[in-house]
Amino acid sequence: MSNDLKQSNMNSQELVFTNNVGAAIDAVVDRLKPNNIFVLVDTNTATFVLPRLQQQSRAVAEAKIITTKAGDIHKNLESTQAIWRTLGEEGATRHSLMINVGGGVVTDMGAFAAATFKRGIQFINVPTTLLGAVDASVGGKTGINFGNLKNEIGVFREADTVVLSTLYFNTLNTEELSSGYAEMLKHALLSDAASFDSLLSKHVEDFDSEELLQLLEASVLIKKKIVDADPTEKGLRKSLNLGHTAGHAFESLALERKSPIPHGYAVAYGLITELVLSHMKLQFPSSQLHRLAAYIKNVYGAFDFTCDDYPRLISLMRHDKKNLSVSEINFTLLREVGDVQINCVIAEEDIKAALDITRDLLGI
Ligand SMILES: NC(=O)c1ccc[n+]([C@@H]2O[C@H](COP(=O)([O-])OP(=O)(O)OC[C@H]3O[C@@H](n4cnc5c(N)ncnc54)[C@H](O)[C@@H]3O)[C@@H](O)[C@H]2O)c1
Ligand SMILES: [Zn+2]
Repeated sequence: MSNDLKQSNMNSQELVFTNNVGAAIDAVVDRLKPNNIFVLVDTNTATFVLPRLQQQSRAVAEAKIITTKAGDIHKNLESTQAIWRTLGEEGATRHSLMINVGGGVVTDMGAFAAATFKRGIQFINVPTTLLGAVDASVGGKTGINFGNLKNEIGVFREADTVVLSTLYFNTLNTEELSSGYAEMLKHALLSDAASFDSLLSKHVEDFDSEELLQLLEASVLIKKKIVDADPTEKGLRKSLNLGHTAGHAFESLALERKSPIPHGYAVAYGLITELVLSHMKLQFPSSQLHRLAAYIKNVYGAFDFTCDDYPRLISLMRHDKKNLSVSEINFTLLREVGDVQINCVIAEEDIKAALDITRDLLGI
């Protein structure tokens, strides 16, 4: 890890990487001295994580528990209202603390509820999924879905502290782990070849929890460095969209076919398409493209699509909310690993060619 990445750790919110989660939470509580504490869990983390955390942390053992329904369809206003109501009824004040224990749904919604309750109370995120740890818990984007639109309502607000561990990942299934790992592949591609090599060396389940914690730390610090430089997504933060213009189109197509694929799987396929475009437009090395494609084919399998799907995929890319207008399709591309070019406008013919090559690489 280079020094400048380590130093980004000192800005704004504190990131604590440890498998001694209870002690880390108790230290934050001792520093903040809240007058009472609320722990938000969902119905799964209530079962799989909370009992362990109550044994590990004195503060969590004594806290009031708020349980919300699991799943992104419940990351909504109704659930948020229920959280606000409980906070009010149970005597939360401006000096209360909320501890969000869960995946991206719990950290996004819990952070939003905390950031808006009485104009904002302090909160800690304790991500319990790999996707949540590597992506959702850091960066200050909080919010809920509204009116069929993802993350439509929210605020930028950073947690006081994010406690990142790999302790609770052992109850996640392979699909959930691989989904989070795709965002780690993205971060490595944005950063440096050594990180990329480490990730391609094994399958996520083959790392032990300490090795995974080290990889997680490196990955989160890559995101944090980018976010600290551009917190409200005026420029550099767009580099985090790598893999996501094509990825969101694959994800939406799968949803339309009523056979949804996990977000990270869509991003994995999207990374292939966007590295093909990077090769076509910016001479990204084909050797790195082939290594990534082989790894993804092996771990994530293939997403089945034909040239009949191209018009729909391109229409979905055109309506991606990251574009400035529907007349342009905007990508984040790479010249090589760690050398990023944002705002690349690509013509439809080139996207179709890249989709052809994606299918070849996935063997479909
Ligand atoms: N704020 C951001 O920058 C950002 C970035 C990426 C994603 N997100 C959001 O994150 C959400 C997706 O995150 P996610 O994949 O973590 O979803 P999630 O929170 O729904 O978690 C996935 C599933 O795993 C369960 N779970 C959580 N921890 C567990 C554990 N340790 N053991 C067993 N089961 C466990 C959850 O209950 C859920 O059923 C989406 O709402 C997305 O919009 C936000
Ligand atoms: Zn993503």
